[in-house]
Amino acid sequence: MSQGAQAKDEPIDVGPRTKLQDDGKTADIGPLEPVQKKRRVKKFRATHKRDDSAPSDVRTPSPSPAAQSLVGLNQEQKDEIIRQKYNQQTHHARKTRRTESKIYKLRSFNNCIKYILIHKYARPGGNVLDLGCGKGGDMAKWEAVQTKSYVGIDLSDLSIKEAVTRYKRSRFHFQAVFATGDAFNVPVPQILKDFRDQVDLQFDTVSMQFCMHYAFDSELTVRNMLQNVARSLKVGGMFIGTIPSSDFIRWKVNKLGPGERKWGNSIYSVEFPSEPPKDAKFANPFGNVYNYYLVDAVDNVPEYVVPFETFRALCESYNLELRYKKNFFELFNKEIPNYFRKLPTPVVESLRREDGSYGVSGEDRDACSFYLAFAFEKVGA
Ligand SMILES: C[S@@+](CC[C@H](N)C(=O)[O-])C[C@H]1O[C@@H](n2cnc3c(N)ncnc32)[C@H](O)[C@@H]1O
Repeated sequence: MSQGAQAKDEPIDVGPRTKLQDDGKTADIGPLEPVQKKRRVKKFRATHKRDDSAPSDVRTPSPSPAAQSLVGLNQEQKDEIIRQKYNQQTHHARKTRRTESKIYKLRSFNNCIKYILIHKYARPGGNVLDLGCGKGGDMAKWEAVQTKSYVGIDLSDLSIKEAVTRYKRSRFHFQAVFATGDAFNVPVPQILKDFRDQVDLQFDTVSMQFCMHYAFDSELTVRNMLQNVARSLKVGGMFIGTIPSSDFIRWKVNKLGPGERKWGNSIYSVEFPSEPPKDAKFANPFGNVYNYYLVDAVDNVPEYVVPFETFRALCESYNLELRYKKNFFELFNKEIPNYFRKLPTPVVESLRREDGSYGVSGEDRDACSFYLAFAFEKVGA
């Protein structure tokens, strides 16, 4: 199998504990050894409860001028915007056939990345907490690594309902619990209070796929979110996720002309409320909002820049140490030879190009370049 060539002007993420280097090198601390355990087949059970409890006392309006559109809204109102967007999207997605979507390839590529990340860091026979689980689209990936039990939490009640339906339909071998709740501002034990007898609150893996960036509206929200992650992980457990790359954002911002505040193509766009500063050096690392649009998927949802070094430094204060960080293309090119045969054939085959190589090109490639994958290990209690 041949792989796509690296574009010359592709931005390269810096590795852990490094400042941005001109040589573009990345540091990879390497994977953990997975603990092999025998697969245990359990009866499956789906439960769905809504968490209506008030969020904790996070009420910090963003001081950034770029966050104008959300200034003045309290946490509940901000949550409501995200919840409504994803409820609408769940409704819309039911009517759109997956293979007809313009982002079919991009979805396959993103799925492929998540398969690899999960294979690399999940503990076979372990349990997982999937925060911002959406419609439970990653459940098949967790099944593939012989997960014993799965807990999915999301702000969108319609997404959770869809996840429960999928679970019941799919005959997965793991036990599952689903709950609606604000995973950034409400303690996980509180969200799961109705499942105390069913759920072990200490997890081998906490996964946050394509959702953690919503927490970066304020330092307090990020800290609340990280506290949820850290308190939910066993020592030695892994926190894995996918987020927009601040290096890619910086690279794109630097290519904008005077007065420009938006980039994108027919698949996706990113728009700041006002012209972003050069090098994307925002005065405050939190609250730097932009609108993200992805055709057939995300309809101009307000998201926040995640400055990776700020994120990494905050993680350290919760005993979470960086083990892996790669943008999607680096990850794909480096890991796909090892995982090619472990991935579902339809996922891999949908990434086959006319010349026989695998990957995404053109507009898909630009849209995928927006993201990076990370893994942190919990190193102390
Ligand atoms: C782009 S979707 C990703 C869904 C899923 N993780 C995946 O990879 O397919 C982002 C999800 O994050 C959820 N979300 C956003 N803020 C949240 C919060 N505070 N608590 C829980 N979920 C949240 C949204 O409702 C949405 O379902």
